[in-house]
Amino acid sequence: MALAITPLTPSGFGAEVTGIDPTLQLDEETFRAVEQAWHDHAVLVFRDLAMTPEQQIAFTRRLGPLHIMVPLQYNLDGHPEIFVVGNAEEGGKAVGMRRAGMGFHSDGEDKAIPNAGSFLAAVQVPPEGGDTIFADTRAAWHALPRETKARLAGRRARFSRITLHHVHYPHLPALTDEQKRDRPDVWHPIARLHPRNSRVALYIGRWAVEIEGMAEAEGTALIAELCDVAHRPEFLYRHSWRPGDAVLWDNRCTQHCATSFDEERYTRRMHRTTLEGEAPVLASVAAAVAA
Ligand code: SIN
Repeated sequence: MALAITPLTPSGFGAEVTGIDPTLQLDEETFRAVEQAWHDHAVLVFRDLAMTPEQQIAFTRRLGPLHIMVPLQYNLDGHPEIFVVGNAEEGGKAVGMRRAGMGFHSDGEDKAIPNAGSFLAAVQVPPEGGDTIFADTRAAWHALPRETKARLAGRRARFSRITLHHVHYPHLPALTDEQKRDRPDVWHPIARLHPRNSRVALYIGRWAVEIEGMAEAEGTALIAELCDVAHRPEFLYRHSWRPGDAVLWDNRCTQHCATSFDEERYTRRMHRTTLEGEAPVLASVAAAVAA
């Protein structure tokens, strides 16, 4: 059983990892090869895994400190490091967050310290629908016209859960004053430098509302244009889940989007471990324009 990393798209965005222990208890050399592949390809797909929650946590922890999602209500009992996503119920009670992740975003983009990466494992999946789409935001930045890069380089965008909560979560109650205090608006660089490989990515997402130094309407229109570039078909990888799959992605240079499925007929249950991150680094104007 030899480790192999096979690109999933012609550009090399996303790769499948095969020839690996299905419990992900990897020796140091194999782990380092997987970590390097993650940095190179940004999204790694594993199939036919047989991980316990403890093994998922242990593998993710080797990549960096873990983030515990709050509020704790959707974290797995006894394993707060695992955030449960989907419509599964136990004893008539939801165990996971329904419709989490609909709309392109990267995890934690609306926080001062967004999450570096996420590792999502499929426990139960519908026979149709419920795919996850990943967008390559390094390629998106690279594809921008030079004038647009020059216009955006050195600028930041405002991300606001307060402004957009009702748009993205119409099925949830309005934010309380306490929740608003906990999630104040944040400003992040639009040309984001990756701390591990110094590559530049377009850092924008569904919570972005305004661009520094631009009239609000101009910024909003430009954000929509940037999102359209990021979501061009040639920059996407779409993952159709099977039980035993897991996908590791880098939130610093990708976006992702969960897609719908028939929630009345089917159950989708996913277990996500999430990595702590760092304050996003602004690429220099020269690096951003050249990237
Ligand atoms: C997420 O955004 O972390 C969840 C994505 C998914 O459920 O497909």
